[in-house]
Amino acid sequence: MFGAGDAHARVMLVGEQPGVQEDRQGRPFVGPAGKLLDLLDRAFAEAGIDPGEAYVTNAVKHFEFTQAEPRRRRIHKAPTLRETTACGPWLAAELALVEMELVVVLGATAGKALLGSSFRVTQVRGTVLEEEIHGRRERLVPTVHPSSVLRADDRQAAYDGFLSDPNAAARLLA
Ligand code: URA
Repeated sequence: MFGAGDAHARVMLVGEQPGVQEDRQGRPFVGPAGKLLDLLDRAFAEAGIDPGEAYVTNAVKHFEFTQAEPRRRRIHKAPTLRETTACGPWLAAELALVEMELVVVLGATAGKALLGSSFRVTQVRGTVLEEEIHGRRERLVPTVHPSSVLRADDRQAAYDGFLSDPNAAARLLA
């Protein structure tokens, strides 16, 4: 599944992989995690960036799942490094096509796909990184994956942190 959005977007959001809803509808972030992503729009809107302008995609292009029995509910399964690596050329093509100023890295899978297997989201979240990726200099801001906010015990604290990481990035673009 390809990403969605404008090829002239100023910001690219990179998530993990499509979920059940995304797989059905053929668009990234249309399920529960996407609702949270909508909240990021506010941060970008305050920086004068039209939220509709963001290009949204995933590191892994297919829905990876386990299923107890045929026709039972498909349950999200974290992609392996091998699967993430296999999808790398598609993500690289999107990075080359979209002329964004900033990539928001949503969680560990996206981070490892873009920045290598030593990536640790807890160490770099909210910081602005400048890295050479597939031969291009990119500016990136990592934050946690929106699903981790939905799972957190202290949801408010997780939510505040999730919003404040890209907020720093949005100010940078203002
Ligand atoms: N939906 C997506 O498209 N990507 C994620 O990482 C999570 C949910």
